[in-house]
Amino acid sequence: MERTSRKREHIQYAIETGISGKHGFEDVKFVHNCIPESSMADVSLSTSIGGLDLSSPILINAMTGGTGETYEINRRLALLAEGAGLAMAVGSQMAAIKEPSVQSSFSVVREVNPNGIIFANLGAEATTEQALRAVDMIQADGLQIHLNVMQELIMPEGDRDFRGVCKRIEDIVKIVHCPVFVKEVGFGMSKNAAQRLVDLGIQAIDIGGAGGTNFAEIENRRRMIPLEMLNDWGLTTVQSLLELSSITKVDKVATGGITNGLEIVKALALGATSVGMAGFFLRLVKDFDLEEGLSVVSRIHEQVRLIMTALGVSNIYTISDVPVVISGDSYHWAAMRGID
Ligand code: FNR
Repeated sequence: MERTSRKREHIQYAIETGISGKHGFEDVKFVHNCIPESSMADVSLSTSIGGLDLSSPILINAMTGGTGETYEINRRLALLAEGAGLAMAVGSQMAAIKEPSVQSSFSVVREVNPNGIIFANLGAEATTEQALRAVDMIQADGLQIHLNVMQELIMPEGDRDFRGVCKRIEDIVKIVHCPVFVKEVGFGMSKNAAQRLVDLGIQAIDIGGAGGTNFAEIENRRRMIPLEMLNDWGLTTVQSLLELSSITKVDKVATGGITNGLEIVKALALGATSVGMAGFFLRLVKDFDLEEGLSVVSRIHEQVRLIMTALGVSNIYTISDVPVVISGDSYHWAAMRGID
């Protein structure tokens, strides 16, 4: 399957399949504080990922690049990122490394947002030389390396050999002169895997949990004989955050089905310092113009500020001190996995 038609199908099927909402956030409840002693004017949304300062906890997460259509999507995402002050990651740049004629669909992101925080993106099959080229292509502030084993296995033309991944990540961390993050694409992350990644020297982890864009379902649509039994594979966003609760040495990014301010604050309460949203922004730039997109982001920022005020917290880093009660499947998962 040609890479450009795969990109087109990913966008089409991501929009058609949507966000499942089975991320587990409904299992997380805040303990209401009726005397918060807070003021909405004091709330700051500043945070950081891997030592990079961000004015918002929302990251437009990695999606695309590589064809004519994706040039326009990336341009619109970058304009939104610039206007709203959001960090943004581009989609996998392997296409542009193998075929330099499509580089402009990635470099446009830097052109329209010269001073923004932008992350490069490659899969864990990348070499050190490819990692350096990806960062250089968009003068990236950080590099995301994505892990997508289950997506590759369901993808008809996907990889079947995943040996050497840790060594490649370790080598990339040593050679690249910017923070390196590792991210899942929607199957979540266990404590053991995260600990192994931290030991390799990465600066942040994006848990990329199940419950949002579902790459099992997307790849199944591309198969002659679908493996539908795998559509529910993976740890939800909440299960993944619970798994990583004892891992404190790296910044945690929560991605997976997030679409509103309450889910953002719940993710921050479970230990993330920022959240990634992908499918949500894809639909936003496809369906709305820049002005409408900016007002949607501004409304989500207001939701976050409002909920932080209700909880009596004025900065992102103290949200994890707020008490939460976990119930349902997420509670069961934590109990079975021995998580306090
Ligand atoms: C993605 N995602 C992704 N991730 C990555 O690291 N490199 C990539 O090239 C892509 N490509 C891609 C294409 C499309 C169309 C979508 C919607 C997503 C995964 C993305 O960054 C994110 O981890 C998941 O989509 C889960 O987040 P949401 O969509 O549930 O908010």
